[in-house]
Amino acid sequence: MHDTVIPFDDRGFAYGDGLFETVLVRDGEPLLWEAHMERLARGCVRLGFVGPERAMLDTLPAQAGQGLHVLKLVVTRGRGGRGYLPPADPQPSLRWQFSAFAPHQERWREGIRVRLCRLRLAIQPCLAGLKHLNRLENVLARQEWNDPDIAEGLLCDSAGRLVEATCMNLFWQRDGRWETPRLDACGVAGTLRAALLAERPIAEVAMDTDELAGVDALWLGNSVQGVWPVARLDDAEGNTVARWPITAIHRPLQNAGHALLGYPGLAD
Ligand SMILES: Cc1ncc(COP(=O)(O)O)c(C=O)c1O
Repeated sequence: MHDTVIPFDDRGFAYGDGLFETVLVRDGEPLLWEAHMERLARGCVRLGFVGPERAMLDTLPAQAGQGLHVLKLVVTRGRGGRGYLPPADPQPSLRWQFSAFAPHQERWREGIRVRLCRLRLAIQPCLAGLKHLNRLENVLARQEWNDPDIAEGLLCDSAGRLVEATCMNLFWQRDGRWETPRLDACGVAGTLRAALLAERPIAEVAMDTDELAGVDALWLGNSVQGVWPVARLDDAEGNTVARWPITAIHRPLQNAGHALLGYPGLAD
């Protein structure tokens, strides 16, 4: 990390006025870098400040050295302003950190157990899709369970539509088609999701939670962990509402995601 001291009046610290990215880096080479840079740039435009220079950002991944790392970038609008009113000429701050990383390979193979969260995501189209620093909904949702056997929690919005998991996007197969929730009301538009949408026929749809148990296959994915097939779904009370044997049906979408991240494909 290049600077550990965060000024008290940094607007990211005070208001969550900023954005972040977590990037998988293999031997100094970032994966899905363009997609991460695009989402960051989109976020800066939406929040209304000029972010760090692209040329500077491009120098960071190579600092990771050999092996697998996660590069976390945090960009804030910087210091000052009058209350919520930002300064006219903000000086954005950039901080970053590398952490050594090893993916959960057993989750790739055997699948995971997930539960539905009680928390409902607020509908806010202005911020939908962005990876902004206001993540209190995710923090609250992640506190809903402590059981290490449950890998993730699924979130729906206040209208009851499925959105994502606490830190991953959702995909399923239904009637032979791949689908993922539309993210125009809330949620984070993942870079892995964007890359999969760009190269595979995946429809963005609205789906209510109660339809989920009827899908043929369900996956969660992000740009760091890869793609986890879901083997078991519990409701918010802990009752199991669906189970899916992990079979050949799970591998094509998973392997497409893994090819984008340089992770190995899985055989049936
Ligand atoms: C809430 C949320 N949704 C989705 C994602 C997936 O994003 P990406 O594919 O860019 O890692 C993340 C990533 O951390 C996330 O925090």
